[in-house]
Amino acid sequence: MQNIVILISGGGSNMAAIARTAQQQDWAGRHGIRVVAVISNQADAKGLGLARAQGIATEVLDHKGFASREAFDAELARVIDHHEPSLVVLAGFMRILTPGFVAHYAGRLVNIHPSLLPAFTGLHTHQRAIDAGCKFAGCTVHLVTAELDVGPILDQAVVPVLAGDTADSLAARVLTQEHLIYPRAVLAQLLRIA
Ligand code: GAR
Repeated sequence: MQNIVILISGGGSNMAAIARTAQQQDWAGRHGIRVVAVISNQADAKGLGLARAQGIATEVLDHKGFASREAFDAELARVIDHHEPSLVVLAGFMRILTPGFVAHYAGRLVNIHPSLLPAFTGLHTHQRAIDAGCKFAGCTVHLVTAELDVGPILDQAVVPVLAGDTADSLAARVLTQEHLIYPRAVLAQLLRIA
């Protein structure tokens, strides 16, 4: 068995896309792969309800209760490791992770970022792409390393930037592609490390 643990902070649509694809493609029966838990640092994350609706165990670990980033990440790793994950999937998990946490999950920690990396690391990627006059935007799945949004690229998708696009309209176009490439990249990475 290969267990997936997914970390979210908000809407959880990428998490739901992975869980839905796992079900539709019978990852459990064909590959022994299961989404075993969804963990949020925000108690009110909408994605928690989506996870429960798909029968996935959920946990909340609020970072505000911890004195330091290191203390939160240590407890987060303890909660995650309880599920014995082969892969930890960041899906809109809006926390900068400590080097110790990242090292602990080397090769089995993936993220999706809403830009064509290495362009536009960090926040507000869609507005920055529009402001820069980009004709194309997109999303990237990458392995997480100590530096933010910089690890080896596993998959990407490209969308056009259209005249009149706002950050919201571009984000929606990109998100549709995120839901296609993230499940595919997660499965590929799990088969690679199996
Ligand atoms: C997604 O667009 C994801 O790429 C982005 O947050 C959104 C989460 O949506 N992640 C980042 O910006 C990470 N730096 P979701 O909760 O509906 O999956």
